[in-house]
Amino acid sequence: MDKTILPCVIGLGYVGLPVFTRLNKVYKTVGYDVNAERITSLKKKIDLNNEIKKKDLKLANKSVITKNKSHLKSCNFYIVTVPTPLINKKIPDLRFLQNAIKLISKFLNKDDFIVIESTVYPGVTKLYAKQILERNSGLKLNKDFFIGYSPERINPGDKRHKVQNIKKILAIETNSKKAFKRFTNVYSKITKKIIISNSIEDAETAKVIENIQRDLNIALMNDIFLFSNKMGLNFKNVVRLARSKWNFLKFNPGLVGGHCLPVDPYYLSHLAKKKKIKLETVLAGRSVNEKMKKVIYEMIVKKISYIRKLKKNCKTLIVGVTYKDNVPDLRNSYPLSIYLKLKKRFSKVFAYDYICATKDQKRFNILNKVNSINKFDLIVFLVKHNKNLQILKLAKKNNVKVLDPFNFY
Ligand SMILES: NC(=O)c1ccc[n+]([C@@H]2O[C@H](COP(=O)([O-])OP(=O)(O)OC[C@H]3O[C@@H](n4cnc5c(N)ncnc54)[C@H](O)[C@@H]3O)[C@@H](O)[C@H]2O)c1
Repeated sequence: MDKTILPCVIGLGYVGLPVFTRLNKVYKTVGYDVNAERITSLKKKIDLNNEIKKKDLKLANKSVITKNKSHLKSCNFYIVTVPTPLINKKIPDLRFLQNAIKLISKFLNKDDFIVIESTVYPGVTKLYAKQILERNSGLKLNKDFFIGYSPERINPGDKRHKVQNIKKILAIETNSKKAFKRFTNVYSKITKKIIISNSIEDAETAKVIENIQRDLNIALMNDIFLFSNKMGLNFKNVVRLARSKWNFLKFNPGLVGGHCLPVDPYYLSHLAKKKKIKLETVLAGRSVNEKMKKVIYEMIVKKISYIRKLKKNCKTLIVGVTYKDNVPDLRNSYPLSIYLKLKKRFSKVFAYDYICATKDQKRFNILNKVNSINKFDLIVFLVKHNKNLQILKLAKKNNVKVLDPFNFY
């Protein structure tokens, strides 16, 4: 271990915690977060995001997990993994990043390193590095301190693609061989598969286009899904046939929520607008993907209304309310908002989600187990968590009507 490297990961969420756990194995690492609740559960070795196992939260090398800023004083390699959401009118909200960088600038010393991992639009990393860090510390970028950008690719709920086994971009713009070595040395402890970029802006752009490409492809499938439904075509069969061609890409229609795909296209379009560059496709998927919430809601209403003609007290169970498969995250979840809207309209709508956190289950009245399936008249599958298949089997066995809008099964 190089005892001169003292990393600090700022923001211990979906992105920061896995990075922290990798570095904790090798260095005396500080994991810092402003969220007191998060720190308390992590100290008890519980990751409520269900991404990191208890054994990997064991602290080594005198590392700490803290909400106490003073621990940053001893650090010299800062990694920033704070949220970069949108504010009203879909404008990038860089306030979390700004706060994190301001905090670093208070502790910045000569020969320190900073790597930003949060998703940003091209130019943000250097803008903050130069303006805030230089102004507040009196030090000079690439002379006194160094900055890099390493976009994160982790995919919550995905047990196969983990930070230690996926390719990770590391963008470094320095002529100092010593600084380059220090950057790569630390990042080689996170993953062995580093892709070097000599341009920070290129790496920032690459990150957002990865998600934009996905957003657009899902939007295309959503469009064809709606077209097939209106035309009375068998969407599943249409896709099966198209996929028999070697270069037809495998995307599925769905509810695109969360804080990456519905956000990142606006990061790029924000900059393009500022620079007066017309982008024709980047936001093209957004309206289709946003519309799906209303489409699926109406599909369920239609089904419930039909059943209510035969049985006034139709009891409906929505299965899965998180924003995507196998994650507990409810932020910007379309299934959750569909459930809450249905609940306002019909008195007998229930939700079941065994993955979301207990406090969320209590807050939104979400069941964490289903005792008797035959008390329901309709089961709707909105998210494909692994164990939801058992509910489907039970529903079939008990002849309960099923609505599986996206043909999960
Ligand atoms: N979640 C993903 O799938 C994913 C994937 C790739 C990239 N990203 C990007 O990574 C970044 C982080 O996303 P996330 O999903 O980990 O977010 P998150 O909300 O799960 O975690 C962010 C953490 O940062 C903390 N925080 C906020 N401001 C802080 C500050 N000033 N100092 C210290 N801690 C602070 C929050 O309390 C929170 O615990 C975002 O830019 C996101 O777009 C996310």
